[in-house]
Amino acid sequence: MTNVTMIVAMGRNGVIGDGERMPWHLPEDLAYFKARTMGHAMIMGRRTFDSIGRALPGRRSIVITRQHDWSHAGVETAHSLPDALFLAGPDEVFVVGGGEVYREAMPYAARLLVTEVDQSPEGSVTFPPIDPSAWVEVDRVPGEGFAWVTYERRS
Ligand SMILES: NC(=O)c1ccc[n+]([C@@H]2O[C@H](COP(=O)([O-])OP(=O)(O)OC[C@H]3O[C@@H](n4cnc5c(N)ncnc54)[C@H](OP(=O)(O)O)[C@@H]3O)[C@@H](O)[C@H]2O)c1
Repeated sequence: MTNVTMIVAMGRNGVIGDGERMPWHLPEDLAYFKARTMGHAMIMGRRTFDSIGRALPGRRSIVITRQHDWSHAGVETAHSLPDALFLAGPDEVFVVGGGEVYREAMPYAARLLVTEVDQSPEGSVTFPPIDPSAWVEVDRVPGEGFAWVTYERRS
């Protein structure tokens, strides 16, 4: 078991974004994201960081970029996913997107926190397929227009 959890909100069609923004506004889910990640390290791609625009309080932000001159106040920088995981250390770390980074991090993840949004928005950025032979759903909490679903990697 690794210490890596991926947290994502996705539509029925797997869409998570249009390249810049998230396709929906779900304040309840933003509060869920905050509660789950608070106090932990978060790893994100540089494009996701740009879409947020700032380091979120109470959590370490580790941004992956191939640009060696990139930096931002309040943010740690890594130039590969393994380097980011090393920086994060042994405690639970949250991979928070986007599409490119989710794909790279999928093999490292032990747990997926998926907000299944009851929409099929247009968008070019998707979450990688959740292979049922590798993942088992262990929890499902229904909400208004979405469900919070937890998967664990089959041992
Ligand atoms: N629905 C959700 O839960 C959710 C969550 C997060 C994001 N999103 C959405 O996802 C979209 C962004 O996703 P995205 O796929 O376009 O981009 P992304 O994964 O956020 O970031 C990609 C960038 O990360 C860096 N990177 C990725 N892999 C790397 C590696 N192995 N080594 C070094 N740097 C690496 C590169 O930055 P450089 O170009 O600087 O080199 C790359 O351009 C947005 O629409 C956002 O709103 C949705």
